[in-house]
Amino acid sequence: MEANNPRHEPVMVGQVMAALAIRPGAVVVDGTVGLGGHSERMAEAAGAAGTLVAFDWDEAMLAHAQRRLERLPLRKLWFCEDFRAIPETLADLGLRADAILLDLGLNSAQVDDPLRGFSFLQEGPLDMRMDRGRGEPASSLLNRLALGEIEDLLREYGDERFARAIARKIVERRKLRPLRTTRDLVECVLEAIPPRARDPRIHPATRTFQAVRCAVTGELEGLEDALVEIGRCLEPGGRLAVLSYHSGEDRAAKRAILRLAEEGFEPVYRKPVLPEPEEVRRNPRSRSAKLRAVWLRSGGGD
Ligand SMILES: C[S@@+](CC[C@H](N)C(=O)[O-])C[C@H]1O[C@@H](n2cnc3c(N)ncnc32)[C@H](O)[C@@H]1O
Repeated sequence: MEANNPRHEPVMVGQVMAALAIRPGAVVVDGTVGLGGHSERMAEAAGAAGTLVAFDWDEAMLAHAQRRLERLPLRKLWFCEDFRAIPETLADLGLRADAILLDLGLNSAQVDDPLRGFSFLQEGPLDMRMDRGRGEPASSLLNRLALGEIEDLLREYGDERFARAIARKIVERRKLRPLRTTRDLVECVLEAIPPRARDPRIHPATRTFQAVRCAVTGELEGLEDALVEIGRCLEPGGRLAVLSYHSGEDRAAKRAILRLAEEGFEPVYRKPVLPEPEEVRRNPRSRSAKLRAVWLRSGGGD
């Protein structure tokens, strides 16, 4: 990949900025700063008197965003942490948020780097960890888990219809030699899903890679509860926007917003907002995006 010049086109920027309605002087929180595309716009809207609190659990992404936003004069605070730490961190800082964005999942720079192991299109080590200094890589997970456990994770995190067949192929293959690369996993999927059963619109390994990634990163674990807790960090009038890219993420966002609606928050939209066809043409990675947002009515909350 372009290691020194990673790229990621921020998704639905106009809609996200409309949902967040940021005013000068605002405290804005980006829980998934990535390469800083959304953060840059949020920081510009908050202006010199504003504060940006930015999180990413991937050190390389955070470092890039820091460089990108260097020129902006507002107060900037950077945290290489899971966004689940937002409530505690804001409490420690004595801050409440006027706008919070969570743009879930991966960014293009991570997907495009074969060394990270997220891409089924390029061969690389089957890793998929966000923080490569911690946790278990995908290869070791798939070489260790029982057949039934692999099947369950493919179904639960990937909605994969061929979960059983793919899990069987993985177990058969690792008896010959352990899985090591992304190609090893792609081959298991291609052997398991008959050509006539494949959806021509997506690569057959899409769901498997998504599911294994979620198992490695733990990104869906407790997500709904985390979103509720994060929503509670808003100032009255403040807004939380969530961009999701697959059903597991969207389910968590939808349920969290329903729960927040019982405590003085109001959904900004009745239905999730989708990208315009023009954006999907320009940036195919935006095609599965869904934007949901909620705001805290003045006089709501505690
Ligand atoms: C879709 S990208 C964000 C792109 C960003 N909005 C931009 O404009 O460049 C998602 C980012 O969130 C990070 N991420 C995902 N889950 C996270 C979590 N639970 N805590 C912290 N960072 C997370 C990923 O490392 C990735 O950089």
